[in-house]
Amino acid sequence: MNLANSITIELEGRKIKVPEGLTVIESLWDTGHDVKRGVGCLSGLCGACTVVYLEKDSKKVRFGLGCQKVIEDGLIVIMLPYFPSRVAHYLLTSMDSPLQHLAEIYSELYTCNDCKACNVCPEWIDVARVMKAAKDEDYETATNHITDCIMCGLCASRCPKGIAPQHVALFIQRALVVERLFPPNLHQRLSEMESLKFEQELARVAAMGTDELESYCHTLGEA
Ligand code: FES
Repeated sequence: MNLANSITIELEGRKIKVPEGLTVIESLWDTGHDVKRGVGCLSGLCGACTVVYLEKDSKKVRFGLGCQKVIEDGLIVIMLPYFPSRVAHYLLTSMDSPLQHLAEIYSELYTCNDCKACNVCPEWIDVARVMKAAKDEDYETATNHITDCIMCGLCASRCPKGIAPQHVALFIQRALVVERLFPPNLHQRLSEMESLKFEQELARVAAMGTDELESYCHTLGEA
């Protein structure tokens, strides 16, 4: 390790010197920690690498992603292990109106008192707003504001009522697809595919040579 531009941080309870400019996960690797669990995409997308940190001179503990949080001098940081949260089991296809079952599937949602402790999302989702909309049966608002969820579970780790907002929201998103948002033309196309309507055409395209395929694609583009 080149100590020329090193800074001191407290990582997993130990004061260490690390080169500046690294992320939390890179710092762990740089200092010989064999971190495999809690590391996935390294791009802020998989939600595996949740961390809790306190910046120098700050009074507020913050939450984030270890692959995105860049260290700075005086930072105190730990990685959060997997946080347990309840995942309900349900079969959407057995329900006529899945959203009507929300209250039985995730009954804890209705104990939410809007304390906003869940607003620690590394994707800047206003989780409390999503939960309030869900409770108020404004399911479109709930889903519109949760689309960036990466299922990291930080919100669930903060909820004093034991609600797992990420799972509640996922149920609502799935239920909405079943109930409302499935466009009729998509329905039609899927049933056409199920009835193998395009099999012959597919076989014809699969048998085409490069030139024939190219001119076929041109024809489609002009259509
Ligand atoms: S490793 Fe995937 S979000 Fe950090």
